[in-house]
Amino acid sequence: MAEFRIKTNDRKYEGLGDNEKEWKGPFCFIQGADPQYGMMDDMANKTPITWKAEIELTRKAVAAINKMKPKPKFFVVCGDLVHAFPGDAQKEEQEADFLREFAKVDPSIPLVCVCGNHDVGNTPTRKSIQHFRNKFGDDYFGFWAGGVRCLVLNSQLYEDASMVEELKKEQDVWLDAELDAAKSSGCKHLVLFQHIPWFLNTPDEENEYFNIDQDIRMPMLDKFLAAGVSTIFCGHYHRNAGGSYKGMEEVVTSAMGCTLSENTSVLEIGDTPSGLRVVKVHEKSISHQYYGMDDIPATIDLGQDIL
Ligand SMILES: [Fe+2]
Repeated sequence: MAEFRIKTNDRKYEGLGDNEKEWKGPFCFIQGADPQYGMMDDMANKTPITWKAEIELTRKAVAAINKMKPKPKFFVVCGDLVHAFPGDAQKEEQEADFLREFAKVDPSIPLVCVCGNHDVGNTPTRKSIQHFRNKFGDDYFGFWAGGVRCLVLNSQLYEDASMVEELKKEQDVWLDAELDAAKSSGCKHLVLFQHIPWFLNTPDEENEYFNIDQDIRMPMLDKFLAAGVSTIFCGHYHRNAGGSYKGMEEVVTSAMGCTLSENTSVLEIGDTPSGLRVVKVHEKSISHQYYGMDDIPATIDLGQDIL
């Protein structure tokens, strides 16, 4: 079994090298979110909580990704790797199982781990963020993939940075520099990955648990738009959703683990299949489709650019 390798250091992702700055033609990558080991049993009020079902779903995902043609350029998991919060009794055990299962991804398909609220806590602390960095790598960083500039954000710092104001400032300074650098970088697309969506369906929707508050949301969306961000990929909602802001797309991807009911007036386990999203990147366009774990295609037709 391949050993899980920490992929980031000093905000540099080591899975994809500098030779990825050049556009060499269309490619695909995989986006998943919320494998969240332990949520299914918790939602079903089972005790003790196990996560056998989530492990089975991961195994289906990894088997499909490893045999996919063409080979995905990378596999990004947009947060809530496990269900236990920092300090919870089952945190270490769930993370050990996550690391063991995700280490089975073909080592030539780099794995990108994004932090979610369950990973660093709803009110993150220096300790909880350091724990994530030690286990999974940096909580925010950038990388190149086939001519596309990708930035990974710690969205929890926009949700509640009350215990880590300094760390939020550090991310903001880093992000401003990255967005500025991207403008003149010659990248074909500038893409963001994060856990909590800025909005679920429309940019001006009311504040709620699953989105980021409007007073932070709108200036950030304007900043991303000005920097030329084309697509923002998120998770957290455990349902598929998304929308656009002045032509900039935001994609909300359902869970690799426990999905939630489409009836948003109740918080209960959903009928839609756990799955992941296949993203096709062309020179001028990015398109994507969500597949349930049993329906992931073995061959991806990259198709034509949409002009
Ligand atoms: Fe989640």
